[in-house]
Amino acid sequence: MKELFSEVEILSQAEHLAGQIRARMDGAVVIGVLKGSFVFLADLLRDLGCVGFVVEDLGFVRAKRYRGVSGGELRIGRLDVDVRDKVVLVIEDIVDRGETIRGVKEELKALGAVEVWVCALLLRHSVWDKGLVDFRGFRLTDDKFVVGYGLDLDGKYRELPFIATLEKEGLSDVQADGDCPRNREIPAESGGCAL
Ligand code: IMP
Ligand code: MG
Repeated sequence: MKELFSEVEILSQAEHLAGQIRARMDGAVVIGVLKGSFVFLADLLRDLGCVGFVVEDLGFVRAKRYRGVSGGELRIGRLDVDVRDKVVLVIEDIVDRGETIRGVKEELKALGAVEVWVCALLLRHSVWDKGLVDFRGFRLTDDKFVVGYGLDLDGKYRELPFIATLEKEGLSDVQADGDCPRNREIPAESGGCAL
């Protein structure tokens, strides 16, 4: 396992993205793409709250494509909130080939959403400039599989507070080393939540 983005880097990226979102939107129905986005969504949502973005409703949609490290067919589950005539903000963990986010966007439009915006924490370099994501977090420079911070390999590693790359040889020895820098302190340069 090799750490790619630390918890502190991720939290500061989330805060940055919340600022970008707030600059363009006052609020929306927020939709998390399950399962991978739930950790990012939880952090981003509180950053959005701090900048005065109004969450009109929160829903989740299940989209599943990956089985192991190789791709599978995309399946999109039933959405659990009403998006008809609503402005929607979709939160995704990673955009790899872009099929999942394309599928989710189509589904939301079909359900009557008037605007569909997307925020993704990670994007592969191949989709960075494809116009699929409005609020982009980290750009991945290679195609290595990543885990942690909600992202899994066959259901594992979601609990890691950081994002790590998996080397093919080392798939079985991924674990936090007991010295995780879980960071509860707000960096001095950030004023914290103004509310
Ligand atoms: P896409 O449809 O090719 O964009 O794939 C996006 C979905 O595949 C994401 O929502 C993830 O659930 C999963 N995925 C793609 N790459 C990775 C990875 O490196 N680690 C964990 N999950 C991934
Ligand atoms: Mg996902």
